Amino acid sequence: MVDWRLEHLAEADSTSNICVARAKAGEVAGLAVLADVQTAGRGSRGREWVSAPGNLYLSVLLRPAQEVSSLNRFPLLAGLAVAQAIGQLAPDIVQPVLKWPNDVLLDGAKLAGVLIDAAPSQGRIDWLVMGFGVNLAFAPQIPGRLTTSLASHGLVVAAEVAAQAVLQSLSGWLEILAAGGAEAIQTAWLQAALPLGTEMTVRGAQSTTHGRFAGLSHTGALQLRVENRIETFQTGEILLAGQGG
Ligand code: BTN
Repeated sequence: MVDWRLEHLAEADSTSNICVARAKAGEVAGLAVLADVQTAGRGSRGREWVSAPGNLYLSVLLRPAQEVSSLNRFPLLAGLAVAQAIGQLAPDIVQPVLKWPNDVLLDGAKLAGVLIDAAPSQGRIDWLVMGFGVNLAFAPQIPGRLTTSLASHGLVVAAEVAAQAVLQSLSGWLEILAAGGAEAIQTAWLQAALPLGTEMTVRGAQSTTHGRFAGLSHTGALQLRVENRIETFQTGEILLAGQGG
């Protein structure tokens, strides 16, 4: 198990910024930073992540010592860890579902997201920061998306409790990965994901592709059935039919 060193701050610009700065300064793996409020929370694709009090803002610093080619595994692992943690915190409500690579949905609405920052060095991952945002108390509006919170499902969870659940689940999946369990992670991820065949659109920098979810490549990239062929995506914004994501 990872021996997490959890630092709980009243306020941070971004817990991920703190972990990135500490990584660059040479901090060893295992740092976890939790903040009650973020003043400059970052979402994916350079978006702002609304970070008022009540929700979970948690980042961790890892030094996986793996080849850069395995980077795709970490977003999946992070999504799996947070979905599992939420499932354990809220076993009586509908189970969370994953949308590639790591959005956590509840009843089709976004409950949590993960931001990955990483630095390659000589073909290996020097450091990797996972930043988890979970809508515990409120659901910030994201234009064109449905969002939800645990509170709107009648569940009150304190950020510190949620943080411990995420860290514990993350430890378990990191151990599985270190023991050569990349395939087990993909299998578990697929079990927790939207069903195969779900209609989705991948919006990339150059083009937009519409198709049906067809699984993961062996490196964890997204596969879509487009007409009668399979297309593979390493990156892109995934939009679901009818709600833009
Ligand atoms: C997404 O857009 O889905 C990713 C959101 C990630 C938000 C979390 S909150 C903790 C950490 N610090 C940040 O600035 N961002 C991540």
